[in-house]
Amino acid sequence: MGKFEDELREAQRKAFEESAQLSQVKDLEELKAKYLGRRGIISSLLKNLKEVSFESRPALGKLANEIKDRIEGIFKERIEELKITEPSKRKGTELFDYTLPGRKSWSGKFHPITQISEKIIEIFYGMGFEVAKGPDVETDYYNFEALNFPKDHPARDMQDTFYIDDEILLRTHTSPVQIRVMKNRKPPVKIIAPGRCYRHEAINARSFCTFHQVEGFYVDTDVTFADLKGVLSAFVWELFGKEVGVRFRGSFFPFTEPSAEMDIACVNCRGEGCGLCKYRGWLEILGAGMIDPEVFKNVGYDPEVYTGYAFGMGVERIAMLKYGIDDIRLFYENDLRFLRQF
Ligand code: PHE
Repeated sequence: MGKFEDELREAQRKAFEESAQLSQVKDLEELKAKYLGRRGIISSLLKNLKEVSFESRPALGKLANEIKDRIEGIFKERIEELKITEPSKRKGTELFDYTLPGRKSWSGKFHPITQISEKIIEIFYGMGFEVAKGPDVETDYYNFEALNFPKDHPARDMQDTFYIDDEILLRTHTSPVQIRVMKNRKPPVKIIAPGRCYRHEAINARSFCTFHQVEGFYVDTDVTFADLKGVLSAFVWELFGKEVGVRFRGSFFPFTEPSAEMDIACVNCRGEGCGLCKYRGWLEILGAGMIDPEVFKNVGYDPEVYTGYAFGMGVERIAMLKYGIDDIRLFYENDLRFLRQF
């Protein structure tokens, strides 16, 4: 047994040594045949197996197979190695074309909603507004009660609400920031308040369960509806271009009186009528009005002394109109093919 085993191990050692000295794949294939071929060294050694005792044959047969596998492994590894280092076998590595254009590296960017919100804020900042923020999780009091939505008033149905419990909810609009600011400060206040809102609505191309608004309001002595129209028109012309037509339509909000909705001439057809504006020629972009005296009473402002206006716009809607996006859900899918366009 000793002799047979020694011969096998010796063959393995030699195969390793000899293969390490060769540097051509062709030569290695030849050496491999010398060891593993049908008339090779291992085959001839195996023939000697007949000469060993019957009992030790299984163990030696097993050893012989293991060594054969190992030698095979040695050649395989060495040939692979050479294929990589042998110049003629390398795949294009030394033929690098230095005139090829570089690979584009993508840098991070702000989400289109953040970009548009900042643009909106910048425009109002230029008109003397300061930025304020309020919490996404609000109380019924700030979101509704103080804004003159009485409990069980049908006006609450205008906004389907996510309630956390009877008193706590996810804000349905940014108008509660009006109350928070006015309760803490004396006029004049001229504020812009961007933020996320939530509504328990059926999800489709036009509405999503979460979206963003920018709220604005100005309270002082002698603030008029004409001031509101002036500020909003200046804003629209800055964002959508000077030539865009604007109009105000009477509307209703519990916290403003009178109330209005502002339309801009359709950005697609310029007023002629098309699918985007449903052949009306106009697109609604925001709600606004003069702050209701009831709201002033709730925050401790004297309605005989002060007047103010407020407005609120949907950021997604404005972004959709500005960039011609037809599905609000795109903002929340985070598909890079969409996001990289902004
Ligand atoms: N909060 C109103 C809404 O979400 C918009 C609005 C804000 C209307 C301020 C008037 C004044 O629909």
